[in-house]
Amino acid sequence: MYYSEDLVEEVRSRNDIVDVISGYVRLQKKGSSYFGLCPFHNEKSPSFSVSPSKQMYYCFGCGAGGNVFTFIMEYENYSFPEALKLLADRAGVALPEKEENEETKRQQNLRSRILEVNKMAAKYFYYQLRSENGAHAMKYLKDRKLSDETIHRFGLGYSNKYSDDLYKYLKSKGISDELLAQSGLMNVDEKRGMYDKFWNRVIFPIMDVNGRVIGFGGRVMGDGKPKYLNSPETKVFDKSRNLYGLNVARTARKRNILVCEGYMDVISMHQAGFTNAVASLGTALTSQHASLLRRYTEEVILTYDSDEAGVKAALRAIPLLKEAGVSAKVLSMKPYKDPDEFIKAEGAEAFQERIDGAQNSFLYEIDVLQKQYDMKDPQSKTLFYQETAKKLMTFESELERENYIEAVADRYGVGFDNLRKLVNRMALKGSTIKIPEKNHGARTEKEEGIRKSQKLLLTWLIEYPGLYQTVRSYVKKEDFTTDLYQTVAGLLFEQYEAGENNPAKIINHFTEPEEQNEAASLFHSTLSVENRGEMEKAIKETIVKILNHSIEERKNALDPMDMAGLQKVIADRKRLQEIQKMKITL
Ligand code: CTP
Ligand code: MN
Repeated sequence: MYYSEDLVEEVRSRNDIVDVISGYVRLQKKGSSYFGLCPFHNEKSPSFSVSPSKQMYYCFGCGAGGNVFTFIMEYENYSFPEALKLLADRAGVALPEKEENEETKRQQNLRSRILEVNKMAAKYFYYQLRSENGAHAMKYLKDRKLSDETIHRFGLGYSNKYSDDLYKYLKSKGISDELLAQSGLMNVDEKRGMYDKFWNRVIFPIMDVNGRVIGFGGRVMGDGKPKYLNSPETKVFDKSRNLYGLNVARTARKRNILVCEGYMDVISMHQAGFTNAVASLGTALTSQHASLLRRYTEEVILTYDSDEAGVKAALRAIPLLKEAGVSAKVLSMKPYKDPDEFIKAEGAEAFQERIDGAQNSFLYEIDVLQKQYDMKDPQSKTLFYQETAKKLMTFESELERENYIEAVADRYGVGFDNLRKLVNRMALKGSTIKIPEKNHGARTEKEEGIRKSQKLLLTWLIEYPGLYQTVRSYVKKEDFTTDLYQTVAGLLFEQYEAGENNPAKIINHFTEPEEQNEAASLFHSTLSVENRGEMEKAIKETIVKILNHSIEERKNALDPMDMAGLQKVIADRKRLQEIQKMKITL
């Protein structure tokens, strides 16, 4: 659904940001802004600010920031349309009705009906666990040291011993066979017709991030097989896009998320206070899981089982997480099998120590690699170093590479210089190098420098609107070669030309919370001018650097036959010379 820019801006301007955020965070006025404890990271003294004049928020601690839409999206984990809807309702702005075709309507209808059936089933299981029928299941959970509160918080339940118990119940509620078949709660076969999938099992309802029941896991009590039975994938249950426990973990406000293998591990960790634990649903971690995690955290700690399968799972997960921009660490559970057993045996404090001591994922990979070599045999040992050097080459940043060379050298008792030489020699030979694909985070140092300069200039232009008058004939939005900065520059210049000053409106133009944070940070820098002369010099240097880069980029992309383009480059170079002479005053 497309909403017009005007409508979006109307909804935004009718929702005062201080009012809205006050509903979530306790704010106190200080000077012209309001301050409170940041809801997006853990802190003891307030660095979260809300500005009524800018209609924006910004956290000086974690960099979260944006306008009122960003806040709702980040806090409630809403998509933009969902945030827009909430704020439109709040301000009494009518949104145009969605036009949907019949097929989408039918699908949405089916989804919500399956969710409805799931909810009914979850309630039914929950009730059975607490009835006489479920007494032995309750005992099983208690024997596994789960508290009443934990059993309640995870909505645990029990499916009765009969094969048509839930079926009969849901039929009595008027649910059709067709819908039941789509829900994944029933098995169908020719001989027996339709009957319950889960019987005589402890039930773990699986929820999505918004707390809606999307599927179930059921465990036998004792040693029967299979140990766990899970709902099949349905219209509402996609195992590769959901994580057990994420509905709670996302609000845990910890700096990382713990990823483990099982339901019971998640529950044990939560019970011990580690409410940032999640598990994949009986499948390996996927790249979609990794992107999902990236929405809530920058760091994942893998708490997989300490057996061979767990090591394999970790080695598979690490590159996926990295690719999604999440850094990974690996926690050692030894000598225990899984987090559940560890916590039962050693307690929460000892587990926290393991979290604090979790190993950097690269060093973990090298450790696993090393185990395949016989370090007493010179040839095998050499091969190990060569393999390690190959991996070390994949770090693009020199500083990072050197730091890792140092760490590996320390750990395996090889000289730093020797290892570095080996890495460099391999890099020179070239052929064997696996050039890492450019991932989202990684940039060269030069690109990073240019980005910083563009950001700095924008901040100055925002802080000192007068500066715009001086530079407007020299600096164009196109000179901001970074997409996000170019968009901000374009919008900012438009506002300045129209005599307008509305930072929050600029944020409307970004759809991703990450972009909104980044854009918001431009409006919240704290520049302190100590020496005006120095500052003016710095501005000029920055402009020159940005223009130089922008001209170079265009020149490089130029078709040699493009005369007009060439002339523009020449004109731009002249523009650059004029700037050198220009007097900048703030
Ligand atoms: N699993 C599954 N089907 C099985 C076995 C396991 O779907 N037959 C999934 C479940 O999601 C389970 C996870 O894999 O939670 C981990 O399995 P496992 O380590 O065997 O179980 P635990 O979580 O340790 O469960 P418990 O402590 O209850 O034995
Ligand atoms: Mn276990």
